[in-house]
Order: sequence, then C-alpha cells, then structure tokens
Amino acid sequence: MHLAQTLLGVEFQNPVLLASGTCGYGAELDGFFDIDSLGGLVIKAVTADVRAGNPAPRVAEFPAGMINSVGLANPGPEVVRTEKLPWLARRLARARVLVNIAGRSADEYGEIIRSLDDVAGFHAYELNVSCPNVKEGGAIIATREDLLAAAVRAARRATRRPLSIKLAPNVPDIGRMAAICVDEGADALTLVNTMPGLLFDTGSRRPVLGAGSGGMSGPGLLPIGVHAVAQARRRVAVPILGVGGIRTAADAVQYLLAGASLIQIGTASFADPRAAERVLRDLKGWGSAHGIGSVTELVGSGLSA
Ligand SMILES: Cc1cc2nc3c(=O)[nH]c(=O)nc-3n(C[C@H](O)[C@H](O)[C@H](O)COP(=O)(O)O)c2cc1C
Repeated sequence: MHLAQTLLGVEFQNPVLLASGTCGYGAELDGFFDIDSLGGLVIKAVTADVRAGNPAPRVAEFPAGMINSVGLANPGPEVVRTEKLPWLARRLARARVLVNIAGRSADEYGEIIRSLDDVAGFHAYELNVSCPNVKEGGAIIATREDLLAAAVRAARRATRRPLSIKLAPNVPDIGRMAAICVDEGADALTLVNTMPGLLFDTGSRRPVLGAGSGGMSGPGLLPIGVHAVAQARRRVAVPILGVGGIRTAADAVQYLLAGASLIQIGTASFADPRAAERVLRDLKGWGSAHGIGSVTELVGSGLSA
C-alpha cells in the first residue's frame, strides 16, 4: 500500500504521527526507533510563558485508559525556538513537525505564533483550544463558538503557515465547531483532544489527580474520536488528523474510514514507546493484505454518500 499523501502543501511520507504531549519534543522517543520514519510529530503545547504544570500525581490509569492533568508544563517559547526546534530541524529529513500551541485568550494565540514564526524546523501549527479563556472567566475555548472563532481568527492573522485546530470531543455538535474553524481560515482539524474525567481514590476519598479532574485518553476514547471525525468529515472538506485511543493498525484504519487523512498516536506510546513504529508497519501490512493500492483509497471510504 502506498502510504504517502500530499496535504497542507507538503508530502507526508505516511499517515502516522505522534500526538502532542505524549512524545515530548521528539528526542524522548528517538532512542526507541527512528522518528524520521514517521509521517511526523506534534510537539508538546507551547504557552506564552514557562509553565511548571500541575501538582502530582499528574496521571492515573484505569481499565479503559488514563486520565491526566499535566497542566501544560513546558519550557516556554524561547527554549522551543532556540533548542527544541533547531534540534528537530537538524534531526529530521522527512518527518513533518507540527507545533502545538495553547493560549488563554485569542490574543495569546497570536502572540505565541509571532514568537515562533520565523524559526525553521516545523511546518504547521496545531491549536490546542482546550484551555480555559482567562478573559471570559475560565470558559473552555473549544466549547464556546465565539471564543473558538476569535482564537482561530487571531492565529490566522499571525501566520501563513498551515493551521490545524484541535477540537474537544465534549461539544454537542462537533461538525458545527469544525465549520466555524474552517470559516475562520483553518487548513485542517485535529480530532480529538482528551475527554474531561474525574476519578477518586476510594481509600482517601480524594481525587486521584493532584489537580482534581483531568482529561481521559487511551482505548476508551477510540469510538468517541472516530465519531467526531465522521461528523466533521460530513461538514467540512479540509484534511483531518484523527487521534484518540489508537493502539493498533486496525484502530488507525477506523479513523481513516471515518475520513481522517493522518492519525496520531498518544497514550499508546506510554505503554510501548515503539507503538507508532509498530502501527505504521502493521498498517502497511494490513493494506497489502486487503489489496489497497493507496492509503487515500481508505480515507472517508467508510461513510455512505
Ligand atoms: C500526558 C498527556 C499530555 C497531553 N498534552 C497535550 C498537549 O500539550 N496539547 C494537546 O493538544 N494535547 C495533549 N494531549 C492530548 C493528546 O495529544 C491526545 O489528543 C489524547 O491523549 C488522545 O489520544 P490518545 O488516546 O492516543 O492518547 C495530552 C495527552 C496526554 C495523555
């Protein structure tokens, strides 16, 4: 099966990427396999300033996956521009880099982009719009149409690089949120971010996470993410990056059938740092076994007209 696709103005050598927040800045997984063999990777969210993150524990497992509340811990734009992106520029020849950014207001998205935009070593931005908007009293940007539109508009004004907007699954109509993003100039969508979740330690009767609640990821998110991709695919024509609960090539095929062109591996890399490499190899094998000539034949083919 031919795995390359031209999207967002460049060729992705295959559809398998690493998801933001689960692969650091690439170097963290590079010792386990050749990260340049992937379609690409999305680096940890960059915020306007250095963030120490939330109190421990930051992650907790449960049978269908895990919940986390890392709190967007990151070294800030200066370290990303002077250390992380230059390393990726030297290291990668073929894999594409997306920079995930997280703002607390529309203005902050523009500010973060302007602080990084002249640096080489990445192709596009992925907007994590799951942050609470401080100016609007903490409303989550991805769940409010006006805040979402303003964030995408501000980002669009700040750059000519491709923009993929990473939406939250917990909205009544994700197709509508996707359409708003495209109307404001988005070039792609990443679906989905984590689902809000809360678990208690039954012994202490306190939340297991230091921050209280968190975001759910892992296998339980698979049907939610696949559904979101299908809903968005019916409404908009831009490329979709599917993410949520992918552990195997069969899981990746679910997203492709729903209309995703590229997929991202997140939590699965924690259990097996070589998960993305394995999914890529097995996807190729799956395609050949099923007589598929090109991965593009699969994209959206599960949806009836
Ligand atoms: C520990 C952890 C940190 C994450 N950090 C980010 C982040 O910085 N930015 C972002 O957009 N998504 C972040 N995510 C969400 C993942 O990129 C992904 O959308 C989500 O985990 C669902 O995919 P999965 O089930 O394959 O993990 C994080 C997820 C986890 C588990």
